[in-house]
Amino acid sequence: MRVVIAGGHGKIALLLERVLAERGDQAVALIRNPAHAADVRQAGAEAVVCDLEAASADEVAVLLAGADAVVFAAGAGAGSGVPRKDSVDRGASVLLAGAAERAGVRRFVQISSMGAGQPPQPGRGEVWAAYIAAKTAAEDDLRSRDLDWTIVRPGGLTDAVATGRVRLAAPPVPRGTVPRADVAAVIAALLDKPGTVHQTLELTGGNTPVAAAVRGT
Ligand SMILES: NC(=O)c1ccc[n+]([C@@H]2O[C@H](COP(=O)([O-])OP(=O)(O)OC[C@H]3O[C@@H](n4cnc5c(N)ncnc54)[C@H](OP(=O)(O)O)[C@@H]3O)[C@@H](O)[C@H]2O)c1
Repeated sequence: MRVVIAGGHGKIALLLERVLAERGDQAVALIRNPAHAADVRQAGAEAVVCDLEAASADEVAVLLAGADAVVFAAGAGAGSGVPRKDSVDRGASVLLAGAAERAGVRRFVQISSMGAGQPPQPGRGEVWAAYIAAKTAAEDDLRSRDLDWTIVRPGGLTDAVATGRVRLAAPPVPRGTVPRADVAAVIAALLDKPGTVHQTLELTGGNTPVAAAVRGT
């Protein structure tokens, strides 16, 4: 399958591109910095430059044409402030989902975050609150669309090696961490699982092998 990944130079995205390439799928990475193209190609994906805070839905729809699935893996990142939580974590997801509708690409997997859908934890500051508000708004937008969406809410991300075992279930899942490599494996497994359409799933480290966890949802 041909899978377009927004935020294609992100840590999860690069891991996902390797998984897709290894199983013979075609990954297309949307990146905003042309200097990231070499890394993306090394991960086995095609690189396409697209700034999701600047592009129009029509422009993005052209890039999605012919794809079988879209993954939203972008994020404003740890060093960003309130405005970019809105313009990337909400705005870029809304843009991508609208473009997927226009392009007729029905399968859409969104990386959200545990904590979305609830009021922000008190005492964590305005940037955290803006992040949770942005992720919640992006989820709500996606649920309103005529797309075959699945929302994945990972817990705290780590760069530990893949364990191949996770806990993946409808909310609430107890808070925990999860290696990005396991998140990438779960997303790859979800892409062609129609049974997970219109589900919101929380994801942490756990004891269930990835394939079984995805089958069991
Ligand atoms: N950190 C956590 O513990 C945690 C927990 C749960 C969920 N999440 C979510 O998981 C997702 C992926 O995490 P990650 O660690 O893999 O992310 P990451 O490494 O920070 O990657 C995010 C990517 O988004 C790209 N991006 C930012 N603005 C963009 C724009 N305007 N147009 C196109 N691309 C843009 C960045 O590109 P540049 O390199 O050019 O900036 C970067 O490559 C994010 O949505 C994050 O919010 C994180």
